[in-house]
Amino acid sequence: MALRLLLLLFPLLSSVAGLRRSDFPPSFLFGAGTSSYQIEGAYLEDNKGLSDWDVFTHIQGKIEDGSNGDVAADHYHRYKKDKGAGSSLQKTASHSKSHWQEDIEIIHSLGLDSYRFSLSWSRILPKGRFGSVNPAGVKFYNSLINGLLGKGIQPFVTINHYDIPQELQERYGSWLNPEIQEDFTYFAELCFKMFGDRVKHWATFNEANFLTKLKYFMGKFPPSHCSEPYGKCDSGNSSTEPYIAAHNMILAHAKAVNIYRKYYKAKQGGSVGISLYMRWYEPLRNITEDHLAVSRALSFQAPWFLDPLFFGDYPHQMRQILGPNLPKFTEGEKQLLKNQIDFIGINHYETLYIKDCIYSLCDLDTYAGDALVTESAERNGILIGKPTPVANTYVVPSSMEKLVMYFNQRYQSIPLYITENGYAQIGNSSTTAEELINDTERSSYIRDYLTYLSYAIRKGADVRGYFVWSLMDNFEWLSGYTTKYGLYHVDFKSLKRTPKLSAKWYSRFIKGYEQIEMASEESPKHLVS
Ligand code: BGC
Repeated sequence: MALRLLLLLFPLLSSVAGLRRSDFPPSFLFGAGTSSYQIEGAYLEDNKGLSDWDVFTHIQGKIEDGSNGDVAADHYHRYKKDKGAGSSLQKTASHSKSHWQEDIEIIHSLGLDSYRFSLSWSRILPKGRFGSVNPAGVKFYNSLINGLLGKGIQPFVTINHYDIPQELQERYGSWLNPEIQEDFTYFAELCFKMFGDRVKHWATFNEANFLTKLKYFMGKFPPSHCSEPYGKCDSGNSSTEPYIAAHNMILAHAKAVNIYRKYYKAKQGGSVGISLYMRWYEPLRNITEDHLAVSRALSFQAPWFLDPLFFGDYPHQMRQILGPNLPKFTEGEKQLLKNQIDFIGINHYETLYIKDCIYSLCDLDTYAGDALVTESAERNGILIGKPTPVANTYVVPSSMEKLVMYFNQRYQSIPLYITENGYAQIGNSSTTAEELINDTERSSYIRDYLTYLSYAIRKGADVRGYFVWSLMDNFEWLSGYTTKYGLYHVDFKSLKRTPKLSAKWYSRFIKGYEQIEMASEESPKHLVS
């Protein structure tokens, strides 16, 4: 009885006391993430091959501020001081070499348990499996991994975060061709062989589900394929290509995991998962049609990839709506697919309302429209959460608990990691560094999302880590350097890194000095102006 009373009072008591690092399991990994193209720079150095993003960003008009990732945050030269002299840009910059702090040290000083980064495929295999391994690329990642481990930081490695060797695009059309399965498994096995003695957390892909949509549904990412009404492109078919590309990625993931389990897991003892993108949805109206629409729209996101990897086939709602446009797995493939996953990585940023478009005709959404729904941010003139500087992105921390419980229930208590969650600032020519460094909104955002994450853990979800996106400001894909997610501010002229207030706050929390005041009930409602 006394125990029951205590359990009932627990949320109340803890809200008085505030949330602490010690409220998360002792083995919980607090981290931050980056990806190769977004921070490395050194785009053709030391025999690196061209990636599809190297080519795409060099086409005029593709990137908002006309920039590219040629130098990015120059991480390739700055992860460690003894690597060399810094890029040619850095040599001419006003800050002398002796004044910069190496990235491994930044990660260490924050007190992160783990650092999530990705491998540049074209740095390791400049021409995919059609050429040789580039020793300089392997050396770079070995040195980064050893440097992290030397400071007690666990590497959490994404094998592929968007960028692929351009060779694979030109030879056979990359993700639209089943040949890519062979290229990906070849690359993944090479990574297990070379780095797996030290890397214990592998994610095959970052946001494979979002990527296929950006590439082949909306046509915004290379190779810019789409068709109307979802986008205007020179070529492509939004009704078929995203699902063909996804089919190849799912099989590529399963084959890589199969290889890991057969030849590496016993001696290396690591685990292999996948990171997927997940918006959370609420029904626009409290009617059955919108509740069903939410369930459909959720299934069309991460379950599109996860159902095959757990159960051997796509969600039934996808089959019902897409019919023959959704490829079929053979019986052999279905057997290979089942349970080919050790953990799910969730990248979460947005929450929106969903409206049904089957029973009441409406304009299909350009991201979620294939599920026959439309997204919106407001209901009766009130926004779903506090707006952030990024379009369509609102602060709704309670979604973190809801989506974690969704995965926990659908995938039988599988281990989960929040592999991305973060808050963006937009900088223009008049924004000062001071303004960007004083990022109190980011600290509150992380604090509130972590609070709701802790509720899910308390309810029994097996969540094992949380990674802020991002360790530092970086090349933010289509928006170039205008959108900034970093805990560290990067001055892209001098390449100097400066901790923002959020970095200091997160560090104090991880080290156990800071107590998280509980998030307010739910973010206040915001009137549409
Ligand atoms: C991607 C990151 C990106 C971030 C912010 C995620 O979807 O994985 O590469 O920088 O969102 O847009």
